[in-house]
Amino acid sequence: MDSRVGAELCAQAGEDEAFVERAFRDVLRRPPDDEARARALEKLADGTLSRATFLHELVNAPEATRVRELDDAVALGLAARARGERLSWLQAPAGTDERVVEIPWVLSRLLASGRVLEVGYAYAEPAYLGALVRAAVEVVGVDLAERDVEGIERVVADVRSLPLDDASVDQVLLVSTLEHVGADNTGYGLPAESDPGSRADALRELRRVLRPGGRLLVTVPLGEPGDHGWYRLDDVAGWTHLFTSAGLFLEEQEAYELTEDGWRAAPSFRAEGVGYGDRGPAASAVLCTELSPGRFRRLMTPDGLVRTVKRRARPLRHRS
Ligand SMILES: C[S@@+](CC[C@H](N)C(=O)[O-])C[C@H]1O[C@@H](n2cnc3c(N)ncnc32)[C@H](O)[C@@H]1O
Repeated sequence: MDSRVGAELCAQAGEDEAFVERAFRDVLRRPPDDEARARALEKLADGTLSRATFLHELVNAPEATRVRELDDAVALGLAARARGERLSWLQAPAGTDERVVEIPWVLSRLLASGRVLEVGYAYAEPAYLGALVRAAVEVVGVDLAERDVEGIERVVADVRSLPLDDASVDQVLLVSTLEHVGADNTGYGLPAESDPGSRADALRELRRVLRPGGRLLVTVPLGEPGDHGWYRLDDVAGWTHLFTSAGLFLEEQEAYELTEDGWRAAPSFRAEGVGYGDRGPAASAVLCTELSPGRFRRLMTPDGLVRTVKRRARPLRHRS
């Protein structure tokens, strides 16, 4: 068989229905909705749509751009983890939200094995949750909202009061979640609260369940400090003070901001006048931090952040 004719026969093989299902899963990472499936099948059957054009339309849909951004973020993070490289000085395109930085930053620091607590997983991106499931760690998902994800143990609980033993977790992941604790979470089907002290309560509770030597990876939005009802914004000093006053030691920290050229590391980020949604679809800047259950002596060091930033002042690495 001529190899190109073979490829042609392969592309046209099978029922249209199986082809449409497969194309949606491969390109948009979801099953087709009923309307899209019916429309595609009707047009494929009457010859007004070819398989090549159908694929072309899917790949060029705005939804596919988001799939690509997240797939890039996951690929970058997991490959770095496999090499033992902790990503820093990340870059990502303009017009994207902060997940394109948070996800690779966190995944590259994900433990090789052990028990990992993902807090606030119920509304996380499927690409990120899929990466955690593929990463061969024991993932426990904690959220007040309910979501079943195969491969993730579900714990429906308040992060401020966890049904977990002391020192029972090797690593905690908090991706854009801390700013919502004690806030108005009606958008997630939860009651509205207004309790700023909750964020420190959550951190102290996570410190309790972390084993000595364990790590907590936190990402939070940066901006002019203020309470915005469903989330809280703070600047680098404000978040850092919250972390250290909860008895956590700053191991590593990196700020990023969305510029006209895209996401860039921002060691001198200034929060004055910077609001959520001002520069793109979500946060204008984000703080990625690794914390450990610190010793009191080290907590008294006042300039941890400055030293961390100086240590990391080396040339930018470009994302492909
Ligand atoms: C913005 S979403 C988190 C985003 C997600 N981590 C991601 O990776 O995209 C905030 C999550 O925090 C959860 N949440 C809010 N308050 C909580 C609390 N006190 N305890 C546990 N989960 C809480 C919400 O149900 C929601 O799933």
